[in-house]
Amino acid sequence: MKLVFTLAFLLSTTTFAKSRGEELFNLCMSCHGQQGYGNHKVGAPAIAGLPKWYITKQLTIFASGGRGKHPDDDAGNRMRPMARTLTPEDIKDVADYVSILKPQTPEKTLHGDLEKGKALFVVCAACHGQNGDGNEVLHAPTLKISNDWYLVTQLKNFKNKIRGADAVTDAFGATMSPMAATLPDEEAMKNVITYVQSLKQ
Ligand code: HEC
Ligand code: HEC
Repeated sequence: MKLVFTLAFLLSTTTFAKSRGEELFNLCMSCHGQQGYGNHKVGAPAIAGLPKWYITKQLTIFASGGRGKHPDDDAGNRMRPMARTLTPEDIKDVADYVSILKPQTPEKTLHGDLEKGKALFVVCAACHGQNGDGNEVLHAPTLKISNDWYLVTQLKNFKNKIRGADAVTDAFGATMSPMAATLPDEEAMKNVITYVQSLKQ
């Protein structure tokens, strides 16, 4: 009998945690879309299927001001107020839910030079992996499910110290910032992301 109760309790809490994350996701849809595939018009990227550790970290630093606070970060400024309304428990639940959503195969909107991009990606592979799948130990996210326009914006932000400028408030972003600085210009950024988008899903 006791076992039955324990099982019933476990089931009810699991269902509860899931539906809470799903409920919280309603707050995200207006910008990130019903399935979490993003919306270019508001600069909101695809988030469906990003790893839980990465979503949790980003929501936490958006909330604390490590990301999205710079006056020139228009898109980040739109995300930050949302993150600030979430409690650590909300962050955990919504990250849980978003991470299990089916990731998209992003639409290719860039037409950079694949060969030049491949050469540039050698540096990136050290952290993001040969196939761009990311590496949790190094805190480097997958680059394969995000929109190409979003990734180029982030490279510009890292290079221009709009994201990852402060090693205290955004320690991992601060490791990425000097990497973006190795890319000489926007064309190089487009080339490397064109290559990323060509990697097998
Ligand atoms: C008002 C619009 C808006 C709402 C609502 C919103 N977001 Fe965002 N979100 C954005 C924008 C814009 C960005 C891109 C910021 C940038 O370019 O740095 C973003 C970025 C993110 C990122 C970073 C993605 C990455 O690859 O680093 C995550 C994670 C995220 N949002 C999760 C959420 C979740 C979860 C919710 C709901 C609880 C939510 N957002 C609600 C607009 C919004
Ligand atoms: C030393 C390790 C390291 C190297 C090398 C590196 N990155 Fe990163 N990258 C990171 C980390 C860590 C993050 C996550 C930062 C955070 O948590 O905000 C990141 C984040 C990013 C993002 C933002 C992803 C998102 O969803 O917002 C892009 C785009 C990116 N890297 C592209 C590149 C490219 C292109 C290169 C090669 C020129 C590169 N990275 C090289 C560690 C690295």
